Amino acid sequence: MRPILKPRVMNSIKKQKTKLALFASGTGSNVFNIITHFNNSESIEVALVLSNKATAGALNHAQNAGIQSQHFNRDDFFESNNVLELLKTENIDYVILAGFLWKIPQNILSHFENKILNVHPSLLPKYGGKGMYGHHVHNAVLLHKEKETGITIHVVNDKYDDGAIIAQAKCVIAEDETLETLQKKISKLEKENFPTTIEQFIKNN
Ligand code: GAR
Repeated sequence: MRPILKPRVMNSIKKQKTKLALFASGTGSNVFNIITHFNNSESIEVALVLSNKATAGALNHAQNAGIQSQHFNRDDFFESNNVLELLKTENIDYVILAGFLWKIPQNILSHFENKILNVHPSLLPKYGGKGMYGHHVHNAVLLHKEKETGITIHVVNDKYDDGAIIAQAKCVIAEDETLETLQKKISKLEKENFPTTIEQFIKNN
């Protein structure tokens, strides 16, 4: 007869959840949405929220949800292993850039090869690169009288907005489109697609 595992032993072999660290620089509406999406997940959890801005709304969303959060400065990020060590200590599996504006340094890229995802508010390769974020992207799209735009979710490498594309979602640009209306359309696409794409990417890996 096969031995019956006692509950305590079974718990110890139960699979750990995949842990996400979210990086954000701004208001953090994507952070809020990702936290909410994975709140009841049995396989994925948001374990850490980090920001390069002490006043970032993203940190408040984390605190409200009881998730560990921290602010870091340029030296922590670019001149030391402080951020990498924190990610290792917290056993982070994937890093998610949710409106994060600094380039990821090599120490973090090497440790999390193909495990860092970013959302960008345009259809890359259009309107990407240094300085292309948030309203700068939308203004450029409107200036060029594009007929459509959208979002791109991609793997992060050592160049801005350049890694392998995992998913894109499009929206039409109306004749009377303004910065505000376009921001709303893009925000909606991000909320609908980013968490589900993260989930699918992790499942496939
Ligand atoms: C999002 O629209 C995201 O795509 C963009 O910043 C916004 C953050 O909004 N990211 C970039 O432009 C990166 N190049 P949020 O703070 O409300 O989530």
